[in-house]
Amino acid sequence: MKKSIGKTASVFPMPVLMIATYDENGKVDVMNAAWGMNCEMDRLTLCLSSGHKTAKNLRLNKACTVALADQAHLKEADYFGMVSGNKTPDKFERTGLHTVKSEKVNAPIIEEFPIVMECELLEEVETEHLHCFVVKVLDTLAEESVLKEDGKPCMHKAGAVLFNQFRMTYMTAGQHAGNAWSEGKALL
Ligand SMILES: Cc1cc2nc3c(=O)[nH]c(=O)nc-3n(C[C@H](O)[C@H](O)[C@H](O)COP(=O)(O)O)c2cc1C
Repeated sequence: MKKSIGKTASVFPMPVLMIATYDENGKVDVMNAAWGMNCEMDRLTLCLSSGHKTAKNLRLNKACTVALADQAHLKEADYFGMVSGNKTPDKFERTGLHTVKSEKVNAPIIEEFPIVMECELLEEVETEHLHCFVVKVLDTLAEESVLKEDGKPCMHKAGAVLFNQFRMTYMTAGQHAGNAWSEGKALL
């Protein structure tokens, strides 16, 4: 028997996205975002509070990079969600992480996270019930060490982490559970 557990938006898993931008002086800022998702083959929606330093930088440069946080840098990933570049100008420097400039967009790539998307801003959408940024993925870069023989990333090798909104915890990806567009064939 099911029991009500409240009005929690319960889609699971949520991602742990590292959104990296430059400010007007070329200073790096990074924030942690769980309210982000693929919405087309080459697009993401990022639901960011309008006052975040990241939101301001995105409007300014029309660009960001979006990396998948990994277990090895969980401390830094969580910190990026606790401190704002609005109040702490050296937010990024305090982590000791490193960046290089993207070749495709005016945004930094954090060297330590193994998978990163280089994105340009398509639009900021504001309706009565939604505020989000829609970005287009121009390219995705992955460390060779996290790729399988077929050239596609392995989430275990990447150490990718997920956000559990029920418990405010981070989790690692689970085991392979089946093949999409394949398991259902048994019922065709
Ligand atoms: C796990 C986690 C997930 C978060 N997800 C979001 C999110 O999806 N959207 C958002 O606006 N803020 C989110 N935050 C809060 C921002 O990361 C935080 O306010 C950050 O300080 C903003 O940084 P900035 O002002 O330097 O851009 C999240 C924080 C954590 C710890």
